[in-house]
Amino acid sequence: MLITIPAVLSKQDVQQCRAHLDSADWEDGSKTAGPQSAEVKRNQQLSPTSDIAQTLSQFILQKLTTQPLFISAALPSRILPPMFNKYETEQTFGTHIDNAIRVNPLTQERLRTDLSMTLFLSEPEDYDGGELLVEDHYGTQTVKLPAGDLILYPSTSLHEVTPVTRGSRVSSFFWLQSMIRSDAHRSILFDLDQTIQSLSETIGTNAPETVRLTGIYHNLIRTWAET
Ligand code: NI
Repeated sequence: MLITIPAVLSKQDVQQCRAHLDSADWEDGSKTAGPQSAEVKRNQQLSPTSDIAQTLSQFILQKLTTQPLFISAALPSRILPPMFNKYETEQTFGTHIDNAIRVNPLTQERLRTDLSMTLFLSEPEDYDGGELLVEDHYGTQTVKLPAGDLILYPSTSLHEVTPVTRGSRVSSFFWLQSMIRSDAHRSILFDLDQTIQSLSETIGTNAPETVRLTGIYHNLIRTWAET
């Protein structure tokens, strides 16, 4: 399931982030790739322990974790600090799958990557190419979102970033471990929660049917969650 979370950052937030990022020291992205992905990764990254990366990543997490749609879709248990990358002309990241386990560079805590996220920090008209292609059971999805929007996709998906042919593509990317390990279970809970939200608006939060469904939602979480 691919889910777009619109306007995680306002346009003003994006401008502020970009002012910092555009004057930052970028390094070769293949440094942090595994052996397979190092061969196909051609981009630039900010050191996750740099002051700029740490400040901006905290800012992004603050904004993201107040978004009800994100919480409903991801049911996050632990989130890695957002990282930052940049693709300029001819840079690309060929087909790969993200590492299953990652270590938080700040706390050394290990985390299973259930969901991958890309937060776009360049407007689509500012670069050509640079699409994120994600393979799922319905085929290959092409993602290129307005600056400030975020895409959430299962880390089990093969994906790539097509070569940039004009301009530069700046984004933040990161992972989370969900309380709900199975993508199928998480999708059911997301659909159920969205249904409860719309029923709350039509028949009311305390209508007997809404209350029953809310109970079912929590009981499914009780059955499936690991914290
Ligand atoms: Ni990746």
